[in-house]
Amino acid sequence: MSVQNIGIDLGTEKITAFVEGRGIVFSEDNAIAYDNLNNETYAIGNKAGEMAEKTPEALTVKKPIIGGVISDFSVMTEILSYYIGKLCDKRIFRPNVIVSAPSCITNLERKTVVEATCAAGAGKVSVIDEPIVSALGAGLSIDHPHGTMVIDLGAGTTDIAVITMGTVAYAASIRTAGDTMDEAISQYIKKEKNINIGLVTAKKIKHTVGCAYKRSEEIEMEATGKNYVTGMPEIFNISSTEVYEALKDQINLIFDAIVDVMEQAPAELYSDICHEGILLTGGIAKLPGLDKELSARLGIRVKRAVDPEHCAAKGAGYILKNMKEMEDHGYSFRMKESIAGI
Ligand SMILES: Nc1ncnc2c1ncn2[C@@H]1O[C@H](COP(=O)(O)OP(=O)(O)O)[C@@H](O)[C@H]1O
Ligand SMILES: [Mg+2]
Repeated sequence: MSVQNIGIDLGTEKITAFVEGRGIVFSEDNAIAYDNLNNETYAIGNKAGEMAEKTPEALTVKKPIIGGVISDFSVMTEILSYYIGKLCDKRIFRPNVIVSAPSCITNLERKTVVEATCAAGAGKVSVIDEPIVSALGAGLSIDHPHGTMVIDLGAGTTDIAVITMGTVAYAASIRTAGDTMDEAISQYIKKEKNINIGLVTAKKIKHTVGCAYKRSEEIEMEATGKNYVTGMPEIFNISSTEVYEALKDQINLIFDAIVDVMEQAPAELYSDICHEGILLTGGIAKLPGLDKELSARLGIRVKRAVDPEHCAAKGAGYILKNMKEMEDHGYSFRMKESIAGI
């Protein structure tokens, strides 16, 4: 029976799966909803994510990763088991599974992810740090000899890593990312317009008129919120300039964190980064002008990866194809029988 191997990206917002020979097969909300009446699982994935926005009393919605950190391990295990179990159907026999996980995950958590993945039907499993996986997914070669800075801008964290020869030489993670940007937009509208908007609306605004620089030709959109004074629904316009104002501090925090990492990097790596440039991955890399704005401020070439939010899943796919090469770089792939000593 042929083995179709699986790559999983465990993100704060999305869980994305890559199947060898098929590419990305799904990208769903990394969430689960429980029925409060009997504590049973009600929904997993997008359906659970949608419930979170509506917060019905009958359900409790949990997200296993908050701010890039696994906040509820049993929930994470249940979601992983569900999806891997679904992918390991009769046509797929004990596949190899690569899991791209937040780089701050502890060894114990790593072991539990491996165990959960094996329990769900996997053969060989490896949990690999997201910056490496994303870099490979963006096309960086594993034996690239020069230091490259990869910045993954997701929903919960911005992870800044300097990668050389397939390992993370230097890394930092900050909580300023997609979710805090949504909060900043919501706060701005509250302060400037006296209107209360939900985080779903804030995200929609970020996606539609969000900008990391002041656009010369302003664009705007219509949104709906609730007036703080009257308590009534209110339709309002919001422009790209206003969203730029709302996000300015967030961009500054990201810029400062990059400068911090650059300053701490040894001289050799520093000059490598200046020469090689910076690669942006993750959904927030799609914020218009972020690459250009960072490049102008840093004086270094900054490139947005193609299809940035899928780099980690694609990178997991790359690793599946090149396990031998990865092993030569010190990565190990564990069988269920050999995980005890992780
Ligand atoms: N076109 C876009 N413009 C701005 N932000 C975007 C866009 N597309 C996705 N995002 C944001 O990217 C973040 C999700 O990125 P992703 O890399 O999928 O996160 P994670 O790995 O944490 O699950 C969210 O905050 C989402 O709102
Ligand atoms: Mg991610």
